[in-house]
Amino acid sequence: MILKIVAYGIRADEKPYLNEWSKANPEVTVTSTGKLLDETTVDLAKEADGVVVYQQKPYTANVLNKLASYGVKNISLRNVGVDNIDATAVKQNGFKITNVPAYSPQAIAEFTVTELMRLLRNTKTFDRKIANGDLRWAPDVAEELNQMTVGVFATGRIGRAAIQIYRGFGAKIIAYDVFHNPELEKEGIYVDTPEELYAKSDVLSIHAPATKENEHMLNDEAFSKMKDGVYILNPARGTLVDTDALIRALDAGKVKGAALDVYEDEVGVFNTDFGSFDKIPDERLKNLLKRDNVLVTPHIAFYTKKAVHNMVWFAMDANKSLIETGNSDKLVKF
Ligand code: COI
Repeated sequence: MILKIVAYGIRADEKPYLNEWSKANPEVTVTSTGKLLDETTVDLAKEADGVVVYQQKPYTANVLNKLASYGVKNISLRNVGVDNIDATAVKQNGFKITNVPAYSPQAIAEFTVTELMRLLRNTKTFDRKIANGDLRWAPDVAEELNQMTVGVFATGRIGRAAIQIYRGFGAKIIAYDVFHNPELEKEGIYVDTPEELYAKSDVLSIHAPATKENEHMLNDEAFSKMKDGVYILNPARGTLVDTDALIRALDAGKVKGAALDVYEDEVGVFNTDFGSFDKIPDERLKNLLKRDNVLVTPHIAFYTKKAVHNMVWFAMDANKSLIETGNSDKLVKF
């Protein structure tokens, strides 16, 4: 039997991996489109057995209900996060949804630490000074990671990969998570509350998924409990940080530097070419982008060859497995 999978939002960098997968799986007819799954494109899935998707904009109830009305109940995400999926529509329609929980935790971890090192060594300041012909050192003397305590918020795969790298630099590690990893537990690195993590960390490295409960967990109150001069790293989800509170904390010098690979209003802005800085349509984002001690990147921590390869292959394998067996080791519970 020929299986039919429609792959949405396929970028040029994903296409070669999708073609490879297709060749290796001749019993599956793969139709791909660069367009995202929404009201205008859902009809492409009419004859499909499953769809493979990645997008940052919401998977709405309307689109999910339409898919279900076409009998398409197998959805495989090429990414980790499931926070933009209408959970009620998923449950009501009995969708089976898979994600790719570990396409490359190291990709995110390596990027996070790279950004921290850039902050600590003032590279954005030096790049600007050098571009202006100013080759002086002062006043931008750096700090060393081996003398710092890094607080890791959430010790899932990415948090643990980051811990390994921080250790290589000789940093002291503490961590907070509701779920304790048994290995890390033995090492005694867990603190009991987020507040304790805030109070003891020179660097806060955030690796939590977005939930309703942790929206704006880094708010004015949280910042007030942190050390003066703390560094904030958020490669996880924009909603975790109250951006206005962060700006206040940066202005007050409470936060000495921040690396943000995500931003609460990033959808429709990140991964877009506006042609010039002035045309970026978000004044608050531009405020952050202009600061020497803030590194904003457009959600690129994941963006490595290994990760893109795995996102395509693991999601396609999972979708095929859902179609053939009704199950997958990557099934997400809603
Ligand atoms: C995720 O996998 O959920 C991410 O945040 C990466 C995405 C930009 C592909």
